[in-house]
Amino acid sequence: MANLAVTVWRGGADGGFQSFSVPRRDAQTVLDVVTHIQRRLDPTLAYRFACRVGMCGSCAMTVNGRPRWTCRSHVSEVAPDGRLEIAPLKHLPIVRDLVTDMREFFDKWARAKGQFEATATRREDFARVAPASAKRRAVDAGIECIGCGVCYAACDVVGWNSDYLGPAALNRAWTLVNDARDGARLERLAAVAGDAGCHACHTQASCAERCPKHLSPTAAIAGLKRATALAVLAGEL
Ligand code: SF4
Ligand code: SF4
Ligand code: FES
Repeated sequence: MANLAVTVWRGGADGGFQSFSVPRRDAQTVLDVVTHIQRRLDPTLAYRFACRVGMCGSCAMTVNGRPRWTCRSHVSEVAPDGRLEIAPLKHLPIVRDLVTDMREFFDKWARAKGQFEATATRREDFARVAPASAKRRAVDAGIECIGCGVCYAACDVVGWNSDYLGPAALNRAWTLVNDARDGARLERLAAVAGDAGCHACHTQASCAERCPKHLSPTAAIAGLKRATALAVLAGEL
């Protein structure tokens, strides 16, 4: 097929799909398709991207029903029949077209105490954390999150309970709970132990299945469940 049959979401929550015909190219990504539409067919199309190389996390969209990072999703892999339906990420308010409002996603990182709380000053020597230690390995397993929101859009619990902190914020909290340099472990466990926190997760692992960086928020959340339970038993929470 020489052209791709592409439908793209236009407008806000009450908008609809618009059809475009886009030339097929070798090694074409979904982001290339959206960019072609915006540059050649309709300059009013709103979408978001920055790095184009899987670093910034800003280009995630729903592609043929699944959340994906579009700059690293090849058309040949996600649409072998040449049909693409491109929509904004689920579970987030639509600003316009393919652009979602990410505020509640990142506000939840703050609610999960996703900020590092230093225990040392810049005048002290670098902390030495053994690379092979269990805690360091737990941090390393989750630290490469790019904040793309793919896991958040894939999580059914976020869809049912808009208060739920979600896989990315909880994954971030788990990296900090295991960070030997951080001084807010108990406050962070308290922040994720409530009804909207780690215990609301149903462990269905859609987040881990869809994460483009191959992280496992499911495993991080399981760690938080254990850590909060142990803290309660120890009388710390
Ligand atoms: S494992 Fe938990 S956080 Fe991940 S998608 Fe399922 S319910 Fe959501
Ligand atoms: S955990 Fe994965 S899917 Fe979720 S925001 Fe981070 S990189 Fe994206
Ligand atoms: S544009 Fe940066 S991750 Fe896709």
